[in-house]
Amino acid sequence: MRMPIIAGNWKMNNTLKDSLSLANHLKKSIGNVKHIKVIIAPPVIHLYPLSLELKGTNIDLAAQNLYWEKDGAFTGEISGDMIKEAGGTYVIIGHSERRQYFGETDETVNKKIIKAIESNLYPIVCVGEVLSEREEGETFSTIETQIKGGLKDLTEDQISKVVVAYEPVWAIGTGKTATPQQAEEVHEYIRKMINDIFSHNIATALPIIYGGSVKPDNIDALMAKANIDGALVGGASLKADSFIRIVNFS
Ligand code: PGA
Repeated sequence: MRMPIIAGNWKMNNTLKDSLSLANHLKKSIGNVKHIKVIIAPPVIHLYPLSLELKGTNIDLAAQNLYWEKDGAFTGEISGDMIKEAGGTYVIIGHSERRQYFGETDETVNKKIIKAIESNLYPIVCVGEVLSEREEGETFSTIETQIKGGLKDLTEDQISKVVVAYEPVWAIGTGKTATPQQAEEVHEYIRKMINDIFSHNIATALPIIYGGSVKPDNIDALMAKANIDGALVGGASLKADSFIRIVNFS
């Protein structure tokens, strides 16, 4: 069975003091949760101090981005090995904000996934349609292009390290969640694609999590769907109470 994953994407929020305090709250109430994989993605500069704060807990850390080269003259970039060394276990790749504001493409997503895995990180790969694509009936074709491009030429060993996050762009930070049914349809579609490209076993094992205005009051209905294996939570992960409630979904 796939273990549920609840990941908090803190984006570019929090002072170091805020991050440490939030991590401390989470450690006390959900630090030992074993049946759900809890992940937090703080700003990368907070990774190392948080890795000390969360030492000995079951909460894993993620970076929000990486660069695909090992090292060199790439001012401002962070490598997979640096993330690993700072205490990261996962890395978010291809978030819609990176695609929208920082020119991330399926090709760069693909390079980053490969590099992340080489650095022993688990990539959380984001896909999702914008509102106009949904309205034009292009949701599935958009997802298909992103999945095929992003996961291009991965080996079975590499794909088995990947988490896919379906995040409809129109639902991110807007308060509009996809209905559980809308999300389930896309998750099912992604799983079928993975079945066709890779294998039945890989598709069955692949965690596919949903993101986009996940809140304490909608997590239970989302998690009740067969192909929804967890959530990537933005705004609601910045408050200990709401994130803890989401982790304690029923
Ligand atoms: P949101 O963000 O929960 O604030 O909509 C989700 C995300 O961007 O991962």
